[in-house]
Parts: sequence; C-alpha cells; structure tokens
Amino acid sequence: AKHLLGIEHLGPDEITTLLDLADQYVSLNRQQVKHRDTLAGLTQINMFFENSTRTQASFELAGKRLGADVMNMGMQASSIKKGETLIDTAMTLNAMHPDLLVVRHPHSGAVNLLADKVNCAVLNAGDGRHEHPTQALLDALTIRRAKGRLHRLSIAICGDIAHSRVARSNILLLGKMENRIRLIGPPTLMPSQVSDFGVEVFEDMREGLADVDVVMMLRLQRERMDGGFIPSEREYYHRYGLDADKLSHAKPDAIIMHPGPMNRGVEIDGTLADDINRSVIQEQVEMGVAVRMAAMELLVKARQSKPQDVMV
Ligand code: CP
Repeated sequence: AKHLLGIEHLGPDEITTLLDLADQYVSLNRQQVKHRDTLAGLTQINMFFENSTRTQASFELAGKRLGADVMNMGMQASSIKKGETLIDTAMTLNAMHPDLLVVRHPHSGAVNLLADKVNCAVLNAGDGRHEHPTQALLDALTIRRAKGRLHRLSIAICGDIAHSRVARSNILLLGKMENRIRLIGPPTLMPSQVSDFGVEVFEDMREGLADVDVVMMLRLQRERMDGGFIPSEREYYHRYGLDADKLSHAKPDAIIMHPGPMNRGVEIDGTLADDINRSVIQEQVEMGVAVRMAAMELLVKARQSKPQDVMV
C-alpha cells in the first residue's frame, strides 16, 4: 500500500504482518538501545489539526526511534490561521520533499483528499468520525498479547459509537479477524447505519457485557455532537459508565480497554481504569509506539520496492 488511510483498505494478512513487526518492536523498545536507522535520512512531518497527546507523541517517538528526521508542525501557529487551505498547506510541505506525512484532521475524508495531492506516504492519525487506523492496530496488538489470539473473541465496544472513529476502525479490524462484536450504548449514540456493520447491538450494559472477553470503553465526544443530544454526565455514568457491578457480567478474565483521553467518573470508574489485573490502558499506549514504528517502516519499504504502486 502507498498510504495508511484506514483499516478499510487492509486485509487480514496485512494486519497480521504489521502486528508481527510491531510485536518485535515492543521487545526492542523495552531494551536500553532504542535507536535504529530504518528511516535514517527520511523526513517525517506531523500535522495535527486537532488536539492529541498519545497519537502525536507516539508518532514522534516512533519516527525518532527509527532514525527519521521528525518535524512537528504547530498548526495553531501555521498560515492556516491566515486563511491558507489544507490542500495549499499540504502542497507547500510537499515541495519540501517529506517522505512521511502524519495527519489528524477534524473533517472525515480530509486525510484521503490530502493523500491524493502529495508524493509521499500519508498516515491517517484520525479524521473526524471516519477512521483512526493506528489506534485500531494498537488495540489489536494489545488484545492479541493479552488473550494470546485475535480471533473468535467476544468484544464489547461501549458508549458513544456514533461519533467515534476509534469504534469504526475497531469494528472493521476486529470483524476482518473474525471476532464477535457487540456495540453497547444509548440509541442516540449509535450510528444510523449500524445494521450494516455485522454486529450485535445492546442498550443495556449488563446484558451486552455478558461473557465478553474484552470491554472497550469510549469517551463521550462532545466536540462532534453538533448541539444534538448530550446526556448529563451523572445519568450517563449510572447507565453506561463501567463500574465493578457492570464488569462482573463479563468473563472473570475480561480485559478493560480505553483509547484515551479518559474521563474518570463519566465513562469509567477511576479505580477500574487503574486496576493492573484488569485494565490494559497503559499497555495500549505502549503498543502505540511499536505499531506506529511498524506502520511507517512497512509503508516506506513498500514504496522503495514498488515506487509505481498507486494503491491506497
Ligand atoms: N487515542 C487517541 O487518539 O488519543 P489522543 O487524542 O491523545 O491522540
């Protein structure tokens, strides 16, 4: 592939290859010598038009650990503020000959549009409510390491599904790997086309969590709610917040996941989030660096071996 724009474009074999390489990087990242030269001489530009802690930091670390020259564009201080368009900004950067562009944007499809205009590899770091492919890949690696497999698992994705690019990419990835997916949340926070997803849908947390292997919680994404239904935090926590009682319906060894940023006491009880016997939230962050190293390495290698390849 030429870019990493969404899980939509990946097959199960490509997903497995990427996770296998990322798994090797987990071991290397834990050793003293972290620096490699796989991307030496290459330039990586990170363009984040939306706030980020985990994704931006881990893409930066991933590039540096592979020896790339990494530049973080401060989009708040860029000429976007003077009215320059996304495409003109991208073309300007393109003229400086980067090798990798990592882009987060509030509009669904903006990253695909940009990928059509530039000569380098583009990685989607989250676009609107569309996709967040590296998040789904790091979630998959976390699940595979915790459960020993990434197929025939029962996985619940809970909360604000409608506004979540994390949910969308995870539904695609976990479906391709033949898992049973349950979506749990209020009907107002379910996507309208949910029946096309090949998933089971539940309104009640206790019913939906029954015997699942993985519990994936999501944040209420108020920034994408367009003034529509916004539940009160108290009511939401009562019905959909993960607490010990609701979790007791899942399998005794079910793991708790959250992509972050997390709102304690809204979608998850803080004590459960910190429970090292159940929560893999910190592992997810660790896997993020390894998965982004693997994604960038594979894209660069694919371009070096097939420079004429125009597939996305
Ligand atoms: N999970 C995630 O994308 O977190 P950030 O918004 O902090 O990057």
